[in-house]
Amino acid sequence: MSAESMLRIEGLRKNYGAVAALQGVDIEVRRGEVMGLIGPNGSGKSTLFDCCTGLQRSDAGRVLLKGVDITGWPMNRIAREGRFLRSFQKTVVFPTLDSEENLVLAGQMSRFPNVLSTFWVGPSARKRIQALRERAKELIEVTGLARVAHLPAGNMSGGQQKLLQFASMLMPEPELILLDEPLAGINPVLIEKVIQCIEHANQKLGVTFVVIEHNTDVLMNLSHRVVVLHQGAKLADATPEEVVRNPEVIEAYLGG
Ligand SMILES: Nc1ncnc2c1ncn2[C@@H]1O[C@H](COP(=O)(O)OP(=O)(O)OP(=O)(O)O)[C@@H](O)[C@H]1O
Ligand SMILES: [Mg+2]
Repeated sequence: MSAESMLRIEGLRKNYGAVAALQGVDIEVRRGEVMGLIGPNGSGKSTLFDCCTGLQRSDAGRVLLKGVDITGWPMNRIAREGRFLRSFQKTVVFPTLDSEENLVLAGQMSRFPNVLSTFWVGPSARKRIQALRERAKELIEVTGLARVAHLPAGNMSGGQQKLLQFASMLMPEPELILLDEPLAGINPVLIEKVIQCIEHANQKLGVTFVVIEHNTDVLMNLSHRVVVLHQGAKLADATPEEVVRNPEVIEAYLGG
């Protein structure tokens, strides 16, 4: 694994009124890794993501994305310049378009946010669309959507649409993805497919992940390293094997 820093969080603090959601957290995420982030309800996990994506302004500390200090940048600037994506829940699925059309459009719109420009077809645009089609086909295979890929997305099941959203998130070739409870409320078959997508994106496409997840069995298998938050502070930062044996983590989160 390369030691290049993808995301560096230094002394991050965030208060909501009297609630100290983050009390000076330091985390380093290296390119190519899958980092798990766990901790009890209210321990500050989502707040940490919010401060990295610009949804919330931190009170102190710094966030560096590939060495660039993005602290205090507004959310749209981080999304535009940071090749940063937060979660797959927000992705739009166009119900009348099939899977490949949805994916190509997701790739086009991220590059050319002006919708009109996505319809301009010159030689270089044609080449790019061809590359997007290749990537879309690959992701349709990985997500196991091939059988239903010809359907308008609106006619696919809820689970299939979720997988399509997940694939859409990968179309703009993000370098770092923050996932806040991607497995919450989905069935075991879908859990397996989402995990396959994350592993494929990590191993074959080189995407770095930070994943918040209460399903610790799954997360420990998926993660190369796990950070544990407790009451807004870092309690542990180690391999999954070390974390599950750490008495403080067991006491605070995993249960006896
Ligand atoms: N927008 C907000 N306004 C006020 N308080 C907030 C806000 N967001 C979070 N908090 C508080 O900050 C603390 C940390 O919340 P956060 O959502 O980051 O926890 P979490 O670790 O993601 O928990 P969960 O596992 O339940 O999702 C909690 O005490 C929460 O009530
Ligand atoms: Mg949360």
